Amino acid sequence: MHYSVVISGLLSIIPGLAFASVPSQGYFDPSSNGGSMLTTVEDTSPLGQQEPINMIISGNSDSAVSIDQNSSGGLQNYFNSLGFAGECLGEHLGNDQQANLGDGNGLINQTAVMRWDYGNVQTGTCEETVDGGNHFRYWVQNGSSADSNAIFMATSYELPASTNHDIVTNGYNLGRDYVIGNITNSTIPTESLSNSSTFSGNTSFNGFNYSTSIQYVSGLLPNTSVGINHNLTVPVDGQNAIDGLVAVLTVKITATNTSSGSSSSSSSSGSNNSGVLGLSVSWKLPTVIGVLISACFVSL
Ligand SMILES: *[C@@H]1O[C@H](CO)[C@@H](O)[C@H](O)[C@H]1NC(C)=O
Ligand SMILES: *[C@@H]1O[C@H](CO)[C@@H](O)[C@H](O)[C@H]1NC(C)=O
Ligand SMILES: *[C@@H]1O[C@H](CO)[C@@H](O)[C@H](O)[C@H]1NC(C)=O
Ligand SMILES: *[C@@H]1O[C@H](CO)[C@@H](O)[C@H](O)[C@H]1NC(C)=O
Ligand SMILES: *[C@@H]1O[C@H](CO)[C@@H](O)[C@H](O)[C@H]1NC(C)=O
Ligand SMILES: *[C@@H]1O[C@H](CO)[C@@H](O)[C@H](O)[C@H]1NC(C)=O
Ligand SMILES: *[C@@H]1O[C@H](CO)[C@@H](O)[C@H](O)[C@H]1NC(C)=O
Ligand SMILES: *[C@@H]1O[C@H](CO)[C@@H](O)[C@H](O)[C@H]1NC(C)=O
Ligand SMILES: *[C@@H]1O[C@H](CO)[C@@H](O)[C@H](O)[C@H]1NC(C)=O
Ligand SMILES: *[C@@H]1O[C@H](CO)[C@@H](O)[C@H](O)[C@H]1NC(C)=O
Ligand SMILES: *[C@@H]1O[C@H](CO)[C@@H](O)[C@H](O)[C@H]1NC(C)=O
Ligand SMILES: *[C@@H]1O[C@H](CO)[C@@H](O)[C@H](O)[C@H]1NC(C)=O
Repeated sequence: MHYSVVISGLLSIIPGLAFASVPSQGYFDPSSNGGSMLTTVEDTSPLGQQEPINMIISGNSDSAVSIDQNSSGGLQNYFNSLGFAGECLGEHLGNDQQANLGDGNGLINQTAVMRWDYGNVQTGTCEETVDGGNHFRYWVQNGSSADSNAIFMATSYELPASTNHDIVTNGYNLGRDYVIGNITNSTIPTESLSNSSTFSGNTSFNGFNYSTSIQYVSGLLPNTSVGINHNLTVPVDGQNAIDGLVAVLTVKITATNTSSGSSSSSSSSGSNNSGVLGLSVSWKLPTVIGVLISACFVSL
């Protein structure tokens, strides 16, 4: 009797531990645990309008890519390879937005904003801040109840500062598709995309090469204008402000910067993906349970 109670108690911790590994699709749907793919924005008109999280960097990417750093081919270096950099001279402009990724962290501020750098990773984002252009805010799904390490990005193409950084016509869908177009080096046909659209391409920065495969996914976001920020000006005649598609990117490092000593040993391509981490959990689990069960036998 006692044993079965103890054992079922022990088994109940397994689902919690299982979250430490990445699900096959590479991310958890925020809405399955109280979150949303729509952000919270201050001071919208009318109040309560939201913006779409329309890109995800899958947790099935090489783990070095999801570490938010410039070195070792990390997330910042990947963003640089896509033509995006941090804000102009480190100045943070504009209101933060919040998102709840359903990972147990609740509604939290964006990690940062990245802006199109017009070919100059040092100062190009100053031009974006003034003249407008592509930009995205991002959040990491790394809370303890959905720890996929996927990166969630809310991408949109904004008008110049003189117009208060409103979004251009079709600017949510186009912002997303310009990023993908920059990866594939070809124009993405926004109007004819569906949930079976796939693309791939290579980018590089600072001696790191990335191979990205892209799958457009439906069902995470609504295909609508209702409740979407700037919905009076963003929709193209008669169509919705957002098409309901999310671009899911899986990124592999195909070449590393061998001249950068700190990275050469630790981030060799593809050696440390999430599968390895998932495996290490499943190896440790039986050992932990075994130890706990034998401890119970001793105490009884
Ligand atoms: C990456 O480098 C840029 C500029 O060199 C710096 O502003 C930024 O804070 C760095 N980001 C991280 C996550 O280290
Ligand atoms: C979130 O950002 C707002 C500014 O937009 C700031 O006032 C607030 O302190 C931030 N919250 C946290 C938890 O950092
Ligand atoms: C989750 O990601 C954010 C953004 O990179 C980071 O600041 C935070 O420390 C991470 N949390 C954990 C538990 O790793
Ligand atoms: C690359 O990105 C820039 C800025 O967002 C955009 O103007 C351009 O059209 C994109 N290229 C492709 C092929 O999508
Ligand atoms: C991108 O495509 C153009 C032609 O459309 C070509 O001239 C250019 O070399 C390509 N760039 C890369 C990096 O492949
Ligand atoms: C979005 O909905 C419109 C109709 O409201 C439809 O024409 C369009 O094909 C849908 N887009 C996608 C990507 O499903
Ligand atoms: C793809 O979209 C169609 C409707 O446009 C839908 O019937 C189908 O279930 C979707 N497939 C997936 C895998 O989401
Ligand atoms: C991308 O890089 C991979 C590995 O380096 C290579 O096999 C592939 O041909 C490249 N694809 C393109 C479109 O250049
Ligand atoms: C390797 O990275 C370092 C900075 O970490 C940079 O100075 C150097 O130019 C890079 N090498 C190549 C070949 O890109
Ligand atoms: C914009 O969203 C609001 C809901 O906040 C809705 O009442 C309105 O009809 C939408 N406008 C358009 C043009 O879709
Ligand atoms: C990395 O990408 C650069 C630029 O496309 C290319 O010249 C180089 O051959 C690639 N390196 C490897 C090892 O694939
Ligand atoms: C690779 O994974 C091991 C544990 O599985 C960890 O100790 C190591 O720090 C990881 N290395 C990198 C570069 O992520």
